Amino acid sequence: MTFAVGALALSGVMAGITYLTARAGFLNERQAEFRRQAFVNASLVQNSLRVPGTAVGQLLESVDTLPGSRSVLATHGQWFATSISVGQSQIPPAERSLVLSGTAASQTFTIDATPEVVVGVPLPGVGAAYFEVFSLEEVERTLRTLALTLAIAAGVTTLAGAAVGRWAAGRALRPLRGVSDAAVAIAAGDLGTRVDAGDDADLSVLASSFNRMADHLQERIEREARFTSDVSHELRSPLTTLSASLSVLEAQREQLGPTGQRALGLLAGDLSRFTRMVSDLLEISRFDAGSAELSLDDVDAGELVRHALAAAMPPHGAAGPPERPVVVDVTPRALGLRVRVDKRRIERIVANLVDNARQYAGGARRVVVDAPSGPGARGPILRITVEDAGPGVAPDERGHLFERFYRGRSSGRRGAGEGTGLGLALVAEHARLHGGSVGIEDVPGGGARFVVDLPIDPEPGGPATDGARAASTDRADPSR
Ligand SMILES: Nc1ncnc2c1ncn2[C@@H]1O[C@H](COP(=O)(O)OP(=O)(O)OP(=O)(O)O)[C@@H](O)[C@H]1O
Ligand SMILES: [Mg+2]
Repeated sequence: MTFAVGALALSGVMAGITYLTARAGFLNERQAEFRRQAFVNASLVQNSLRVPGTAVGQLLESVDTLPGSRSVLATHGQWFATSISVGQSQIPPAERSLVLSGTAASQTFTIDATPEVVVGVPLPGVGAAYFEVFSLEEVERTLRTLALTLAIAAGVTTLAGAAVGRWAAGRALRPLRGVSDAAVAIAAGDLGTRVDAGDDADLSVLASSFNRMADHLQERIEREARFTSDVSHELRSPLTTLSASLSVLEAQREQLGPTGQRALGLLAGDLSRFTRMVSDLLEISRFDAGSAELSLDDVDAGELVRHALAAAMPPHGAAGPPERPVVVDVTPRALGLRVRVDKRRIERIVANLVDNARQYAGGARRVVVDAPSGPGARGPILRITVEDAGPGVAPDERGHLFERFYRGRSSGRRGAGEGTGLGLALVAEHARLHGGSVGIEDVPGGGARFVVDLPIDPEPGGPATDGARAASTDRADPSR
């Protein structure tokens, strides 16, 4: 823009100066020529008038004039003209009286909006005055052409200025764009991205400090991920020992008194919760370390979800009221749909969502398997919806629901189990690994609806690509 405005200003000023100078020079030259011609003709007329009996009309016709010029003669109070378009009345009064009083003069004026120049020469020797009227139309036409040419040249210069400016700005900003792209890629999770300075000396300082920063960042993130993973691993073996010891105690439950039995129950509850948390942590640390991989199987979508639901049901004889079976709706377009997914991960997704519905909303109302068309024209996707009729999730909580260790307000309610807040974070990670996403919607009439969208055939080796990551983050966390 600056280049274009600069070019416009500069070319505008140059064009203006050129036009005004050319116009002044051109007009001066023409007027000098007109005056010369008028004087030559005036002396010719004077000589002829000296000859007695000269017919004035014929004399004027015989005067040699420039194309477009006309002669007017005033002699002894009588006016003669070579054209009916000019005569005594057309000549400006000031000019007329000046010349008739004996002074030669020239003046510019207009007849019917056409610029004209009149040159008047007094002929005192024969008691007459000779006027010659010249048209400036041709001069004006030439000047108009000149103005148009200059305007076009200014326009072309402006466009050229804009083009040069664009090129120069693009060239100047290209190194910065490289750094900015790398920062975006790192923020999206691609920690290995680095800036290549090439042979650009200006960029190399920036690139090397940026790359150093990225190295530190990557190292630190990996160290933290390793730490979580190591801790979880270390906790697994004592947990196994604890579980085995607990089983021994369970077997001798009858021999314990009522207090001992209650303590055993509490211990069993906490131990299973702890075991689940450790396995969730281990799972999540695999995502962080980038070592989570899809193990794809070709399965029937409806069957997969039904199987996942059956597995998610609490075992027979478990404490609490008997479970109402959850209905699985497979829409006609999803009937018989074959999908390539990681069965274990999809089962975890369904189990976590149904588990949440059981804990916070009195059980899932229905689970829908659908195959709507995906974004763009990329064929259908697999959509699994888990819906409940519970209290739903407040809009201000939705943005946090998929964060790790986030436990919503409903988790404080009586009867709502003691989760750790990792369930939905894992759901989001599993979906993301497939290149899919998870989101939450309101159900009209109350309740929550969790929607998981997965590609039918994830790209091999392509999970957690930048696009997939961005897409899933968008849905999972509308507040960001
Ligand atoms: N169906 C639901 N209705 C209302 N609130 C829900 C529902 N599902 C989840 N939430 C809220 O979202 C929070 C996070 O759920 P998430 O599954 O991540 O953790 P959690 O269930 O508390 O623990 P975990 O699943 O790790 O045992 C829950 O604490 C709860 O407040
Ligand atoms: Mg949960």
